[in-house]
Amino acid sequence: MSDQETTILGEFLPYEEKIGESGNFIFVDAKEYIDAHKKTLDNYEKFWEELALELYWFRKPQKVLESVEKPYIYKWFSDGLINVSYLALDRNVKSGRKNKIAYIWEGEPVDKDGNPKEIKKLTYYELWREVNKASYILKSKFGLKKGDKIGIYLPMIPELPIFMLAAARLGIIFTVVFAGFTAENLATRLNDIKATLLITADGFYRRGKIIRLKDIADKALELSPSVKNVLVVRRIGLENLNMVEGRDYFFDELSKGVSPGVYVEPEKLESNETLYVLYTSGTTGKPKGIMHDHGGYSVLLHATMKWVFDIKDEDIHFCTADIGWVTGHSYIVFGPLIEGATSIMYEGAPDYPQPDRIWSIVERYGATILYTSPTLVRMLMKLGEDWVKKHDRSTLRIIHSVGEPINPSAWRWLYEVVGEKRCPVGSTWWMTETGGIMISHTPGFKLVHLKPGTNALPLPGVDVDVVDEKGNSMEPGKKGFLVIRRPWPGMPSWPDGIWGDYQRYVQVYWDKIKGLFFTGDWAIRDQDGYIWVLGRADEVLKVAGHRIGTYELESTLVSHKAVAEAAVVGYPDEVKGEVPVAFVSLKSGFSSSAELVEELKGWIRREFGPIAVPSQIFFVSRLPKTRSGKIMRRLLRALLEDKPLGDMTTLEDEAAVEEIKEAYERISKEIKRS
Ligand code: WT7
Repeated sequence: MSDQETTILGEFLPYEEKIGESGNFIFVDAKEYIDAHKKTLDNYEKFWEELALELYWFRKPQKVLESVEKPYIYKWFSDGLINVSYLALDRNVKSGRKNKIAYIWEGEPVDKDGNPKEIKKLTYYELWREVNKASYILKSKFGLKKGDKIGIYLPMIPELPIFMLAAARLGIIFTVVFAGFTAENLATRLNDIKATLLITADGFYRRGKIIRLKDIADKALELSPSVKNVLVVRRIGLENLNMVEGRDYFFDELSKGVSPGVYVEPEKLESNETLYVLYTSGTTGKPKGIMHDHGGYSVLLHATMKWVFDIKDEDIHFCTADIGWVTGHSYIVFGPLIEGATSIMYEGAPDYPQPDRIWSIVERYGATILYTSPTLVRMLMKLGEDWVKKHDRSTLRIIHSVGEPINPSAWRWLYEVVGEKRCPVGSTWWMTETGGIMISHTPGFKLVHLKPGTNALPLPGVDVDVVDEKGNSMEPGKKGFLVIRRPWPGMPSWPDGIWGDYQRYVQVYWDKIKGLFFTGDWAIRDQDGYIWVLGRADEVLKVAGHRIGTYELESTLVSHKAVAEAAVVGYPDEVKGEVPVAFVSLKSGFSSSAELVEELKGWIRREFGPIAVPSQIFFVSRLPKTRSGKIMRRLLRALLEDKPLGDMTTLEDEAAVEEIKEAYERISKEIKRS
């Protein structure tokens, strides 16, 4: 879509009486909501303060929003004392939910009839006890205290939320690294945060196979000198682990000495103290450690659990994400627990042993809320409706997706096939940086008219806009940059926004369009005020909803002995949304071959992770660059999509027209050959 193009997007679906009837939702006209939304912005601080006071504070906040000496760093709910582990556990144990189930956990392995071999149900009381025990071990065995840093590299097992909560309880800052990441990815993160303890597992099940996680962690540990100790959770009971004497300990062995009634007092933390750091890819450089705090983040999660998911005590919440990503942090761990909800946590692959695993889980536990991703939907959609229809989904009352734009046909499949036109279906927009949902179809007890494919309207108290490069609002139907005009609770937190790199925080998010939070997304606001996020406006790929920095992937390619230079661009994919395609020039002495393609793919799989493996690798003699050395990605993209050079010349103003044409023709021939 070109910048000038004007579009009128989407039609409202006819109003259906039964949509959302089981919830607290009130159907309102979009115009009416937009007016009400404006009022929340007029009284912005008061509005968030009221929500904050719905949570339990050891001491109430003294200020709602405070600027500090560093521009764009804000403190939310200053001087309030809080602890998210206390909100998630102790509050529920004390207020009548002691024996309510917090997590229903299902392991991946199945028996010969296809039924899950392992199901664990943990009540709030049991979870509270486990977390106290884990906290006790962190504190007394490893001497950890408030402000210390640890890494958590665990699969989808109950110990993952248990250790996140145990760290939070003591004010220990943690970073969770997705268990599908490689040793190199893990080491980069451990080094950036200077973690002194790593918590990992012997292994886990994935699509019927055993992944030896501790072996991968061992490789990372060779590169991570700050880590002094390793705590290993025994998920499988693997033999032949390399347990280093005096460094590595098994969690179950350390637990033996701990009295079952152990209680660890939660730290009373100032609202802005760091809860966690979560790394995410950007345009350049190593991944950025986005910081989130205890107070503001909890308030946003509380608000969005109520507004967007309409969470109630009788709900069974099922989010299909991995806790290794922000969706799982916010909507499997902290959000649902703060609300005292029951959540489902599933260990394995969504299509194992068959493509109906997700629907069998919905049926088995009577899930009422489903939070999933467009990539998963498109994958399951291709396998046919029968897998869905085999299972009872009548308990479902609300469905949302997240991670990337949802195409209208995937939306319709969720709405018509999965939800049988009973459930509101939305595409919630947010990102690692926002901490929680910002734009939704159900923004605050209100349900607005459904429209397939859109993200709909900003939540109360959230000031998003679509603007040009100067920050002026775009007219309806015109493509612009999605920005957030005012600070919000849950934003990247004090003191630096990005761990150890305040300058980068300012430069990436606040300097692009002076004074507005730059999300990096393209968006359009349509004639009804609905926002459509179209995709990334920067050099970040979204592969199956995961953010992959082209620069990081290029660096991995260049670290291979045969590669001189590399450029990676995204190519549209029916299921994953986008897949990486690489252009590589070789060092002298190496020549292109089918074996080398396979070797480079294997290299990326090992060094970067399976999600980043390019669908194609082309060998070229030189990469097309501007005079200042920037890779002309648009040229590469045009070549891939078989589009003519056209208006490219005006876009790459630094390069001479002749050079661009020459490069286009040369590479076009080269990729046809390879
Ligand atoms: C990027 C953030 C938020 C949790 C998962 C991803 C894209 C996210 C949507 C949506 C269109 C979306 C954006 C955003 N995105 N949700 N509903 N519709 N695009 O978190 O890895 O930090 O990625 O995901 O491009 O900037 P993340």
